[in-house]
Amino acid sequence: MCGIVGYTGHDNARDIIIDGLKKLEYRGYDSAGIALLSKGELIVRKQKGKIVNLEKEIADENLQGTTGIGHTRWATHGVPSDLNAHPHTNEDGTIAIVHNGIVENYMDLRKWLIEEHHVSFRTDTDSEVIAHLISVLNEGNLEDAVLAAVKMMKGAYAFAAISKSEPGKIVAFRKDAPLIAGLGKGCNFIASDIPALLKYLNKIYLIENGELVICTPEQIQILDQQKQPVKRDVLQVTWSLEDAEKEGYEHFMLKEIHEQPKAIRETLMRRLDERGKVKLDGISLTLEDLERFNKIYIVACGTAYHAGLVGKYIIEKMARIPVEVDVASEFRYRDPFVDDKTLFIAISQSGETLDTLAALREAKRKGARVLSVVNVVGSSVARESDDVFYTWAGPEIAVASTKAYTTQLICLYLIGLYMGDLRGTISDSYYHSVLQELKAVPEKVSAIIERANEIEELAKYLYNRDQVFFIGRGTDSAVAYEGSLKLKEVSYINSFAIAAGELKHGTIALMEPETIVIALATQDALFDKMYSNIVEVKARLAHVVSIAKEGNDRIGQESTEVIFIPECIDEVTPLLSVIPLQLFAYYVARERGEDIDKPRNLAKSVTVE
Ligand code: M6R
Repeated sequence: MCGIVGYTGHDNARDIIIDGLKKLEYRGYDSAGIALLSKGELIVRKQKGKIVNLEKEIADENLQGTTGIGHTRWATHGVPSDLNAHPHTNEDGTIAIVHNGIVENYMDLRKWLIEEHHVSFRTDTDSEVIAHLISVLNEGNLEDAVLAAVKMMKGAYAFAAISKSEPGKIVAFRKDAPLIAGLGKGCNFIASDIPALLKYLNKIYLIENGELVICTPEQIQILDQQKQPVKRDVLQVTWSLEDAEKEGYEHFMLKEIHEQPKAIRETLMRRLDERGKVKLDGISLTLEDLERFNKIYIVACGTAYHAGLVGKYIIEKMARIPVEVDVASEFRYRDPFVDDKTLFIAISQSGETLDTLAALREAKRKGARVLSVVNVVGSSVARESDDVFYTWAGPEIAVASTKAYTTQLICLYLIGLYMGDLRGTISDSYYHSVLQELKAVPEKVSAIIERANEIEELAKYLYNRDQVFFIGRGTDSAVAYEGSLKLKEVSYINSFAIAAGELKHGTIALMEPETIVIALATQDALFDKMYSNIVEVKARLAHVVSIAKEGNDRIGQESTEVIFIPECIDEVTPLLSVIPLQLFAYYVARERGEDIDKPRNLAKSVTVE
């Protein structure tokens, strides 16, 4: 969703801001713009489409300025257009703002501004009201005007403002949308997200809800709404610039698929102690807690939800506590049975997904204990949880989630093992055998990736089909959902996933000669049942691509093609079987010439409902 970057210092703000915006492209956007304080003037340039369009537009202008703000917009109110792009200004063009989120009461505010202050609006956005509010409420300085404005605004937002009369100053405010401030050398920054700043610094402040930031080249001040200074520790960022660069890969998605062995190893090893047992370091989940919980909810969106579906199988099997998995946007509106006997596990790569955050708040309000599985340190989900289990995937830039998913699974396995061990619901030998299998996963993932050319060939053959079905049983059905989502989001092929046993209850009606069916058949315990489902679709002359464990010599008899994954226990196959599906989605999209890292209509971090 929208991205914000602000710089104040002594260098050319234009280049630094555009560079920062490019690092936020992955969030998804449809227009970009920049406002600079330059030689006593406020200059605004904005353009529909990609950042390169904006760059072309300003290429011949010698725009100078050492303070500025920039924005990538993901349209919510008003179509993507030059006019609706940010920054927005007040009527006389002396104040500019960039905004991420939604001002829910913008219609009331517009009415008030028109009736009481005769303001003329130029755009269809909700954001424009912020510039006018700051302008009409400005009686002295920018920070007071921003604080007065936010008192009138409802919704979830983060925004930054600059004013012609206060050069060198950026004022920003956060309420339920991500905002960080970065400490440079002789310069300071604000941004929506860490990758925008990695080139320039590794020390940041995480801004909390209801906080105002005043940024000048000399200092960053954080104030509460009563203008009292807030003391905040500096966070040392561990991600490197290379983590956020393509490093020779054609796309971030491919790079991130390849990074999985390392990310999985890192996530796993950080949670094992010297005796090789799961350590929760800082997370307190005692036996007493576990005996109290009568239910676990896993709540998330998209790919993170699919990780949760696998998590249900794992935690129920190991810890013997009932687990319900729900999409966050449904959970919060259905008055779920949550109380102080509930453990609520939120899963989110970004930690900023609004639906997940809102579900988490609802669960907390009802008394649940909240444990989150999050990739971005200090993100909103992480901060609002009682405990956080971090994935160590590094920044995930491609919209299509890959390494976040596999590292989320690792966390869920570790949670399951820890709980099972503590509750005595698994034996010592089982505990250690699963851990041994998990430790072998990075190498096995590498082995699958090394054979990527087989999947590339398959993609070349199948890329122009208009429909693909994914089927599986047990954890294979959860992976089927993930494979289907991956394919549809990057290739735009209509794909559909279903628990294989459900086929006969309706969906098999869609099977025709040459229908593509990707059949996950990795579960030894369910193989015979799954085999029957494959036979059923094959009988309708479907083109069946099966995914099975090496050494399975029956699967080839009824499959058109087979992709083998290395031998492993049933429990850990989701970590392996998803890899060919990620690669398949990637290569199909590449064959079709799609914009793989930034699929149409999608945003990396979904910070609106
Ligand atoms: O940042 P989150 O993990 O909370 O994001 C949740 C979903 O929006 C995300 O997984 C989405 O489904 C991905 N684009 C899938 O690849």
